[in-house]
Amino acid sequence: MPTPTLPPLRVAVLASGRGSNFVALAEAMRAGRLPIELVGVFSDRPAAAVLQRAAEYAVPAQAMAPRSFADRPAFEAALFDAVDRVQPDLIVCAGYMRLLGSDTVEARLGRMINIHPSLLPRHRGLHTHQRAIADGDREHGASVHFVTPELDGGPVIAQARVPVLADDDADRLASRVLAREHPLMIATVELFAARRLSLRHDRVCLDGTPLAEPLTLDVGGTLQRHAA
Ligand code: GRF
Repeated sequence: MPTPTLPPLRVAVLASGRGSNFVALAEAMRAGRLPIELVGVFSDRPAAAVLQRAAEYAVPAQAMAPRSFADRPAFEAALFDAVDRVQPDLIVCAGYMRLLGSDTVEARLGRMINIHPSLLPRHRGLHTHQRAIADGDREHGASVHFVTPELDGGPVIAQARVPVLADDDADRLASRVLAREHPLMIATVELFAARRLSLRHDRVCLDGTPLAEPLTLDVGGTLQRHAA
């Protein structure tokens, strides 16, 4: 019997800045390489470039400024009401620069991921490229992880590794990492679209089996399991 076709994964993107990871998803979708529907872009910065990028791909976008709300919980409730209204299967934080409250996160556990520019658990938080160079790391990269209440602390799904070169400065290293973030994001979302990834008891599961280590992006842009 032929395998029934899965409905396209409904994906919402949260972003505060330029939106290159959003564009990577939108391009892959438009090229027919990623069976998703981008159902909304949400930002905490009304001037964020990602809003313009969303318009270019005809994806509905909304921005809400936190200062227009009484406090952080009120802002977050309004933002996530809007997110919930588009009924996403997956919420992708791609450069969303605000902390999320634990209630917001707990209510969406297993359905919200974040891309972070380091090989987690190294270098949580900001200025990751600078810190990798300062610490003499020989390898750096990016991680996609499930969002949990702990900042950049959720179970890591997949990583892309980049060597740190002798003459790297933070900007050069950042641009090489970013070039790998995009295929990492696409390949990870592709696994969600195939309904192959889940979070069970704090473990990342692929096809129902817990991963011993995060998947690794190979040079061809495919995620590989580590050999046991
Ligand atoms: C990326 O480096 C991502 O890892 C980090 O924020 C940046 C967002 O870039 N969380 P963009 O807005 O997708 O271009």
